[in-house]
Amino acid sequence: MSLDGFPRGWFVVSWSRDLAAGDIKPLKYFDTHLVLFRTEAGEAKILDAFCPHLGAHLGHGGTVVGDSVRCPFHAWEFDGAGTCTKIPYLKEGAKVPPRAKMRAWPTVERNGIIFVWHDKDGGAPDWEVPVVAEFGTDGWSDWYPNTLWNVKTHPREIVENVADSAHFPTVHRTFVDSFENIYDGHMATQHTVGTAEPPQGGKDSFDIVATYHGPAFQISDMRGVLHTRLFLAHTPIDAEHLDLRFAVMLELSGPKTDTFAQFYVDNLRMGFHEDIAIWEHKEYRERPLLVNGDGPIGRLRSWYGQFYRSRNVGA
Ligand code: FES
Ligand SMILES: [Fe+2]
Repeated sequence: MSLDGFPRGWFVVSWSRDLAAGDIKPLKYFDTHLVLFRTEAGEAKILDAFCPHLGAHLGHGGTVVGDSVRCPFHAWEFDGAGTCTKIPYLKEGAKVPPRAKMRAWPTVERNGIIFVWHDKDGGAPDWEVPVVAEFGTDGWSDWYPNTLWNVKTHPREIVENVADSAHFPTVHRTFVDSFENIYDGHMATQHTVGTAEPPQGGKDSFDIVATYHGPAFQISDMRGVLHTRLFLAHTPIDAEHLDLRFAVMLELSGPKTDTFAQFYVDNLRMGFHEDIAIWEHKEYRERPLLVNGDGPIGRLRSWYGQFYRSRNVGA
């Protein structure tokens, strides 16, 4: 099974807080130029970037008008479904041509995060982005979001962390007592119990249950010094680059939370940079040389392969 190209699933495009009503932004993901905007009523929408008229990029100079986005070149307007709702200089009696449409990408906003659905075959979503029950509740902080932009790697390298138990001591100074993977439909869960030895000294015991919901984002429940939820997502820009984002939510235990959070986020950030340093320079081995003691990398790859297979094949 080739893991080239981009898998099918929900992908993160923005933190909700970074897109106010009326905002419009250019995006490039899946080797495709896109435009993200928030309608005046507050809904996030994603369309292909280029206007069907003469090809202007709506994300560079376009404006939000009510529920629609207005092209910066000749002011045609398109709603969130990609339908042309207005051509301001159209002669009376003339009709908006039926081909005046833009591709609209399925978009949802949940847990303070904006997601887009990608399927190279254009199919509809077949699972939902889960609700993080703690989000927005008393007793938990808001997300502390971080964006580690533009990592030079392919998504398959990141996902492989789910099964790669053997890199923990070398890359992260983390010692694993028990390690288990559970594969269930579109979800893959890693349960790790162990001890970390942070560079600043000491020992921290941890118990992490980390679940991928589809190929591109993972939600973890982490118990150690603190009880936290970690959100980790990667979204491919092109075949060789992706955006990596993470966010942390802490169970509130007193006024020191901000200081703790900063310390904690910095630690995590460092952990990701340790992985990034490997990812950016490695090559991908279709047939890795595995030994007894490596994690279930073959199993992980067959789970991940489901998002590259067209759903109508063999149905
Ligand atoms: S190019 Fe968009 S309205 Fe003309
Ligand atoms: Fe890692």
